[in-house]
Amino acid sequence: MDSSRRSFLVKSAIAGIALGTTGCTRAVNPGAVFPVRTKSPKNAIVIYFSQTGHTKRMGRLIAKTWEKAGIKADARDVRDIGPSVLADYDLIAAGSPVFYYEVPAYMQEWLKKAPRIEGTPVASFVTFGGKGGNQRNTGCMLLELLAEKGGVPMGMELFSNMSAFAPTWSSVSEDRVLLYRNLPDKATYEKTRNFARTVVQRVAEGKAIEIDREITFSEMWKGGTSIWFTKLMIGKHTIDAKTCIKCGTCVEKCPADAIDIEKASVNTGRCVGCLGCVNNCPVQAIDMTFTGNKVTGFNAFVKKHNIVIEEPEELAGT
Ligand SMILES: Cc1cc2nc3c(=O)[nH]c(=O)nc-3n(C[C@H](O)[C@H](O)[C@H](O)COP(=O)(O)O)c2cc1C
Repeated sequence: MDSSRRSFLVKSAIAGIALGTTGCTRAVNPGAVFPVRTKSPKNAIVIYFSQTGHTKRMGRLIAKTWEKAGIKADARDVRDIGPSVLADYDLIAAGSPVFYYEVPAYMQEWLKKAPRIEGTPVASFVTFGGKGGNQRNTGCMLLELLAEKGGVPMGMELFSNMSAFAPTWSSVSEDRVLLYRNLPDKATYEKTRNFARTVVQRVAEGKAIEIDREITFSEMWKGGTSIWFTKLMIGKHTIDAKTCIKCGTCVEKCPADAIDIEKASVNTGRCVGCLGCVNNCPVQAIDMTFTGNKVTGFNAFVKKHNIVIEEPEELAGT
């Protein structure tokens, strides 16, 4: 065992002892409180938050797999629908990327506004890039948000992708991100289908899962602290009016209403550092620097390296 891993384990053990727990900070099984209201769901929804398409792709594949199993299934972006719709379904999956070691704030707020869904079987999935980014706890957090509304946890899965955290390739190292250039791949999609089928199987058996978080140091950095730190390193964040074609993509993607396309300006106080604007602008008109280096968006980075993201066959041509 290398010394950094040993030191991490020692510190984790100390933190575990201090918290009076070994291995998980919280384990809930609301299935014990709310019995699952149906073992053969007919009408399912997969809701997702997705900035660069990874989570959307998995969400749509889960819905397609459920459809093959004879369940009517919708896949919807949370920015297109209100949370009250959850009451209309008897099976729910929620997906989000890991942003700053947790569920993006927009998704958290959306789910907090959801109605009671007592006894509805629920599952969560997250997509992430790289290693050690608090992925498991983020999946747990998403599932807890559903369980807090009365949902019965039936599954959780994590899917590795090529990261969309643009400062990594723009300022730190392209190689770190390119290590994952082949993801998602066929195996990722098979894992996605298996996840969807396992959830249905568990529902049929009425077997809820425990939400079992792990102790990680990223928990201390998640959300606001990391966003604040990232924004501190973003020196410039404006729109180049000469390049901008006013297509509105950045406005659509911004979950914080921070962009005024007519004035070609960004309210950096409101900005939540999600990089949705720079990652999706089709003409690279978002003028952003990170530690002094120009930030290249996800779409441009993918193009530069001739990366073609493989689509699952169920979604080909759709
Ligand atoms: C602003 C931002 C923050 C991120 N933070 C993390 C993180 O804390 N941990 C991690 O594993 N991946 C992180 N990532 C990588 C994303 O989770 C990954 O790219 C995800 O698959 C994007 O999903 P989407 O394409 O559906 O938006 C981050 C990406 C962005 C853009």
